[in-house]
Amino acid sequence: MPGLVLVGAQWGDEGKGKVTDLLAERADVVVRFQGGNNAGHTIVRDGQTWKLHLMPSGILHQGTLCVIGNGVVVDPKVLTDELEELRRRRVDTSGLRISANAHLIMPYHLMLDHAGEARLGKLQIGTTRRGIGPCYADKAARLGIRVQDLLDEKILKKKIVTALEPKRLSLRPFAKDPRLDLQAMTDEYLTYGHRLEAYIADTSRLVLDRLDHDQLVVFEGAQGALLDIDHGTYPFVTSSNPVAGAACIGAGVGPKDIDEVWGVAKAYSTRVGAGPFPTELEGPLADEIRDRGHEYGTTTGRARRVGWLDLVALRYAARINSLTALALTKLDVLSGLPQLHVCTRYRSEEGAELDHFPYHQTVLHHAIGEYEVLPGFSEDLSDCRTEEDLPPAAREYLRFVAAFVRVPIALVGVGPGRDEVIWTRAGAGLAVAGAVPPAPARV
Ligand code: GDP
Ligand code: IMO
Ligand code: MG
Repeated sequence: MPGLVLVGAQWGDEGKGKVTDLLAERADVVVRFQGGNNAGHTIVRDGQTWKLHLMPSGILHQGTLCVIGNGVVVDPKVLTDELEELRRRRVDTSGLRISANAHLIMPYHLMLDHAGEARLGKLQIGTTRRGIGPCYADKAARLGIRVQDLLDEKILKKKIVTALEPKRLSLRPFAKDPRLDLQAMTDEYLTYGHRLEAYIADTSRLVLDRLDHDQLVVFEGAQGALLDIDHGTYPFVTSSNPVAGAACIGAGVGPKDIDEVWGVAKAYSTRVGAGPFPTELEGPLADEIRDRGHEYGTTTGRARRVGWLDLVALRYAARINSLTALALTKLDVLSGLPQLHVCTRYRSEEGAELDHFPYHQTVLHHAIGEYEVLPGFSEDLSDCRTEEDLPPAAREYLRFVAAFVRVPIALVGVGPGRDEVIWTRAGAGLAVAGAVPPAPARV
């Protein structure tokens, strides 16, 4: 102990990379437990920007063990490229460990992801086309190829043949693609195996050992609660469980190893990809928020859809994750808006008031947000470092959110840089011992 799970509480891109990097200052281990390189986690420090897709966001801290857990789907090409790029930028990557049980994204998963979206046409999910869904599908069908298979040519080849067999029909359009040549694919993946071999380990044991020695382990979620395959806006979701419960499964620890669950949320909402978004904004206001918040995808560069903060959805995320704290990022982006809307209930197509996140897809698709209007603020927040530094309207906004969701706000983001953050007194009092710095002195 202690274990702290950090998850996205909205539709992804909430700022998990930045918050994980901050916690990593105190953490001994950072573990990714689900998702793959559909994730894009940004860290901005000392004027440099880091965009991590598979690498846990603790990698910039020398001495922090960075684990890619069994629940992650690994594209070994992306991982080896990411490792190379980090080394080129003089980051020590010797602390990386990859679970031997993690599943591999294969070239045919990428093809199937593309083909699946093309087939759906107007109904497409808007996936990142990184092969995530087809890889998890193979895992569930027990046709997956795992990191450990990279180390044995005979097994690797046999497993590729078995995995390809039921896909022959869907892969017919790619029949001539050189990436599907059995020997070439096997050779390519064996090369990745050689490059990654030194990092492959029994990561569940490693993590449990650190927990037993009372070290702080941060479980870094990817995506967000509303993209969860069970609890999100299905079918417009990812193919894993980004909720906190999945940290245990995807890292190989038990529920009692988790002490804290932090949800990261923006002070407004964004979504990239298709699917319901009850507080979505369009027109000049949406453009303004998108531009100020630089709301363009880290992984695909797509413009993110933007909307007001959805407290119905956030309260739902708090419930399904048992959030013990919130990290509210990008409060600075709201500066200059005369009024701030926060969604406190939905109205259904039939006119019914909905206080809870609807479980029925059709109801959710037609739900429209209804709002409390709070006063805006115009000050630049980027230099604020304590709650007292914030203008009263910004403080009122935070108070309203925490009271509605019934989860204390531990941290507030006031800019992309790692210093542009306010650690609240509530957070300092509540967090796992040693996880956060002491409350800053009052000014
Ligand atoms: P993640 O996927 O949850 O790690 O989030 P992304 O990195 O995809 O997107 C979050 C973006 O917001 C990144 O560009 C961050 O640098 C930026 N960011 C994080 N926190 C803040 C903040 O408090 N204020 C501002 N203005 N930007 C932030
Ligand atoms: P991070 O970790 C935002 C979205 C895609 C699409 C849906 C399914 O950076 O927050 P997939 O490729 O997973 O099959 O796509 O999920 N999506 C994300 N949106 N942030 C992410 O990750 C995402 N990962 C997947 O846009 O709507
Ligand atoms: Mg992201």
